[in-house]
Amino acid sequence: SEAQQKVTIHDKEGEYTISKHIYGHFAEHLGRCIYDGFYVGEENKTIPNTAGVRNDIVEALKALKVPNLRWPGGCFADTYHWKDGIGPKEDRPTIVNQWWGGVTEDNSFGTHDFLNMCELLETEPYLSGNVGSGTVQELIDWVQYTNHEGRSPMADLRKENGRAEPWNVKYWGIGNEAWGCGGNMTAEYYSDEYRKYATFLSGWSNDSGIFRIASGASSSDYEWTEVLMKNIKHSLIEGMALHHYAVIDWNAKSSASDFTEKHYFESMESALEMEELVTKHSAIMDKYDPDNKIALVVDEWGGWYDVEPGTNPGFLYQQNTMRDVMIAGTTLNTFNNHARRVKMANLAQTVNVLQAVILTDEEKMILTPTYHVMKMYNVHQDATLLPVEFDNVDYTFNGKSLPALSVSASRNKEGVVHVSLVNIDASESHKLSLQFDDVNVRGAEGTILTSKKLQDHNTFENPAKVAPKEFKDFSVKKGNLEVELPPFSVVVIALK
Ligand code: AHR
Repeated sequence: SEAQQKVTIHDKEGEYTISKHIYGHFAEHLGRCIYDGFYVGEENKTIPNTAGVRNDIVEALKALKVPNLRWPGGCFADTYHWKDGIGPKEDRPTIVNQWWGGVTEDNSFGTHDFLNMCELLETEPYLSGNVGSGTVQELIDWVQYTNHEGRSPMADLRKENGRAEPWNVKYWGIGNEAWGCGGNMTAEYYSDEYRKYATFLSGWSNDSGIFRIASGASSSDYEWTEVLMKNIKHSLIEGMALHHYAVIDWNAKSSASDFTEKHYFESMESALEMEELVTKHSAIMDKYDPDNKIALVVDEWGGWYDVEPGTNPGFLYQQNTMRDVMIAGTTLNTFNNHARRVKMANLAQTVNVLQAVILTDEEKMILTPTYHVMKMYNVHQDATLLPVEFDNVDYTFNGKSLPALSVSASRNKEGVVHVSLVNIDASESHKLSLQFDDVNVRGAEGTILTSKKLQDHNTFENPAKVAPKEFKDFSVKKGNLEVELPPFSVVVIALK
């Protein structure tokens, strides 16, 4: 459009830190995420690997600055018995992955494999404990196994299995989707279960810095959050989870890459709900926890479509297009802007599953468009959030409207201000004037991610079809920064 939108960035008012953990990822035993994804086995001679983990994936994820990685589920977590995944690999029992395709796994990727992989990735592990089909004893044994330094039955076993030093895992999930695949519990029943698990899930770490995360609500199930906040003693909980996927219709999710503008609009409608969801769940948490001690942890989010034709429906393998760029850009801006309460989040899922950042095919590996957004945005990790104010413009389709623009801003430790801007409009570009309370803009440097068509994506044949480029469509006028955002684009700017 011709009009210019004024965007005010209150760069004197930074109060909250954008936790780097908002940029977390999720790796479940699901389809080709772990097996034939991250992990190709120690014996593999064709794909370069370290202890069976692909070197190309490690490199790509290190460049992304992944702050934490959630494992082993998801729904899988409440079926997983960690003791089956330690010790000599040839002696490990099998497990049938009952939620995801019913495939039989050999447990060759277990606790050591995952935690050592996190060390390679320079990321913090987030372990999801089994509440649905496990026991308190089993979970606290796991904590003792991973975190106890001195002598103890589990620490001794860990040492026998070749690991002297504890890993000191901080983040622990107490069950997953307890209202569904985690046991179909009521909020009242789960709160009691939670209290019991959480009581014993402390005291093993040296600094006893264990961070316990309760299985949270599905999207707008505010009642769930309300009951948990009311029933769980606040001394027993550090994080409250929330899951929300951008889905058109659970019974007709439609193709990931072959879609119309109607599908696009509906996906964005679902994705943009995140703003209302974190606002309302935060408000409930504020009521019970006015001092903001408990974090809101959105430990599953992303776009969910039909699987690619010809692939196992239980494996959730889908392509990743410019639509996913829009979902990631707007969602991350929402998390940044809610940094006061949202202190952790996990995109679902890292490799070959749902809104993946990496896809693999035998020895080939590609970075998806979503990878590039996550990378462009990592400048916000642990930076100070700067409040942003502006009047939005509408993106209208078939008589319905969505806010076209999404913005967040931060100042990093070196004093550099970064602004991330998204225009979800499928056909209109928008002009913005970025105005700062304090900074007089002298210059800028920017990166843009856009493409010719919304459906554009990267393939093994054409891996760089969607890739970031230098952003040049800006000018400095009287200390303000004027930018033009093309249709469906994400731009991240650093001020000079
Ligand atoms: O990410 C896929 C699945 O979605 C997870 O296993 C589950 O927690 C959620 O329903």
